[in-house]
Amino acid sequence: MSSLLLLVLSALLTSALCCDWLSHYSQMSGESLKLIKSMGGPLTDERPVPFPNKLYSRIRRVPVHSQLAFVEETLTLMAQLFDNANMSTAGWNQTSTDKFLMTIERQRDDISSCIPSKTSAVAGLQRYFRRLEKVTLLHTGASRGAWEQVRRESWAHLVQLDVLVQQIRDQSARRR
Ligand SMILES: *[C@@H]1O[C@H](CO)[C@@H](O)[C@H](O)[C@H]1NC(C)=O
Ligand SMILES: *[C@@H]1O[C@H](CO)[C@@H](O)[C@H](O)[C@H]1NC(C)=O
Repeated sequence: MSSLLLLVLSALLTSALCCDWLSHYSQMSGESLKLIKSMGGPLTDERPVPFPNKLYSRIRRVPVHSQLAFVEETLTLMAQLFDNANMSTAGWNQTSTDKFLMTIERQRDDISSCIPSKTSAVAGLQRYFRRLEKVTLLHTGASRGAWEQVRRESWAHLVQLDVLVQQIRDQSARRR
C-alpha cells in the first residue's frame, strides 16, 4: 500500500464521524444481537444455505474502506430481507422486531458517512443474499420456519461483522 493511501485511510478512520461510529459500533452491535434473540424463541439449528465463511476470510485481507463497504452492504442486504416479505407469519415480538430493524438501519446509515464515495464491496455478497432469500422466504411464501432461518443467518452475520469491526478498530488504534 502506498504511503499516500495509508495517510488517506488514517485520516478517514480518525475523522470525527468515523471515530464516532467505530467507538459506538460494539454497543450498537451488542444491542442488535440482544434484540434479534428477544424477537422470538431459541435460534433454530437449521441452516438453509452454507454460511459464506470464504467471503469473511477474504474481506479480512482487503483495504479498510472495502471492509467498511462490506459491513454497510451486509447490513443493507439484511435489512432488505426483512423488508421484502410479509413478516406477520413469523410471529415475532413486534416491539423487539421494530427496534432490531431500526438498530441495523441506524448502523448502516452511520457507517455510510465513513465510506469514501461509492466503494463496492466484495463480489458474491449479493449473490449469497439472493440465494438465501430464494431458498427461505420466496420458496415457502415466507413461512414461519423460513423466517426463523433468516433470523438465524442474520444473527450469524451480526456476530461476524462484530469481529470484523473490532479488527478495523484495532488497526486504526495502532495507526494513531
Ligand atoms: C401477510 O400475511 C397475513 C397472514 O397470512 C395476511 O393476513 C396479510 O394479509 C398479509 N399481508 C400482506 C401485505 O400480504
Ligand atoms: C416484547 O418485547 C418487549 C421488550 O422488547 C417486552 O417488553 C414485551 O413484553 C414483549 N411482548 C410480548 C408479547 O412478549
